[in-house]
Amino acid sequence: MMLRQKHHRPKSALYLGNHNASRSSPARIAVACVRFIATGLACSALIGLCAVAHRHHVTSASKTKWLVDRRTTVLKPNMPWLIYGTAWKQAETYSLVRRALQPGKFQGIDTANQRKHYREDAVGRAVQSLPATKTAVYLQSKYTPMNGHARGTEPYDETASAEERVKASFWSTMAHLGLAEEEQGNDASNWRGRPLDAYLIHGLTEWKVPLSDEDWRIYRAMEDLYQSGYVLRIGLSNVLPQHVLELCEKAVVKPHVVQNRCYATTRFDEEMRNMLASDVCKHDDGTAPTYQAFSLLTANSRILKHETMQPIAARRGETPAATLIAFARQLGMVTLTGSRDEAHWNADLRAVQRIDDGDLLSDDDVQAILTAATDERV
Ligand SMILES: NC(=O)c1ccc[n+]([C@@H]2O[C@H](COP(=O)([O-])OP(=O)(O)OC[C@H]3O[C@@H](n4cnc5c(N)ncnc54)[C@H](OP(=O)(O)O)[C@@H]3O)[C@@H](O)[C@H]2O)c1
Repeated sequence: MMLRQKHHRPKSALYLGNHNASRSSPARIAVACVRFIATGLACSALIGLCAVAHRHHVTSASKTKWLVDRRTTVLKPNMPWLIYGTAWKQAETYSLVRRALQPGKFQGIDTANQRKHYREDAVGRAVQSLPATKTAVYLQSKYTPMNGHARGTEPYDETASAEERVKASFWSTMAHLGLAEEEQGNDASNWRGRPLDAYLIHGLTEWKVPLSDEDWRIYRAMEDLYQSGYVLRIGLSNVLPQHVLELCEKAVVKPHVVQNRCYATTRFDEEMRNMLASDVCKHDDGTAPTYQAFSLLTANSRILKHETMQPIAARRGETPAATLIAFARQLGMVTLTGSRDEAHWNADLRAVQRIDDGDLLSDDDVQAILTAATDERV
């Protein structure tokens, strides 16, 4: 918090003491002393209050904060509604990310420390090459367990413990993204002070309910990173509602983000979204975890061509792809897109902005899309 300095003379006892000392009577000195002590007490109380307020601010800033979006009554996460995905771009990563972060384009990036599909180092170089966005852009990355790496490309010693692997991968991510000093050993001593916005477990080591011991150890290592203040949100990807429920019930830090492939046929992962919105998954401050959708367009080509979708999109003057992204936004989902086409970026960003501006799909249209999503005929 910054206190603005007023330009008039402060009426503090200290000021009175200095200014009036030479012409003070003993009575005036006594009054000044009383004022001095009283002001001192008031200052201590103020400092105490500021410290509490600051601590509260830092604590709540460390958690996913949702703001009630009055226009849509949909809860709004303090992250961009449309995040630029950087998978499968390889040598083009640097130039695409630079372009994607130009003013008026994307304000958030999703990546992973998984060399097989991502070039996290190139993402970091691109972000750092744009001084204006370097501090403002929302940065999210992932810890990929051993089963998600091409052998020999893991950013950690595969014989290390689960906790050590998470730590090594995390600090390597931080160095890639310019949030820690590079090439000086991947540990907290190199931290530059800016936390990562979100850190997710890319996938489970074992597909089972309840979660395996190994997956719990990985999650606890994520909790440690969060509790140390190195990351503002933790979460998971490619999981079932049952996995999330188990974490919400038993973890010290409930997940802040779930990133899943979003199939229309499951009414857009409705069970998961309901789980995240339920009381059991809410944080102490009443905020709910954010649902992030990937493959929203690529996994749902049928709904994009559905007879219901075309007229809705036409009425809005959009393509069905843009309308589907608007629909997701209206339902409270953050969408990831890795499009390479600037015209598509603009269309998708505009579609989301229109919802932000209150230009909503009607309830009938939302219901029609949900019904079409599970239409067996297509
Ligand atoms: N956690 C995980 O396991 C996981 C898995 C997969 C992906 N992800 C993340 O999610 C990101 C996005 O991946 P994705 O699978 O959703 O798909 P994607 O690779 O981003 O593909 C999006 C597709 O939609 C097209 N598109 C976008 N806007 C369009 C529009 N307005 N009109 C027509 N076509 C449009 C794009 O084509 P153009 O290029 O021609 O625009 C592209 O073919 C990834 O980069 C990655 O960061 C995470």
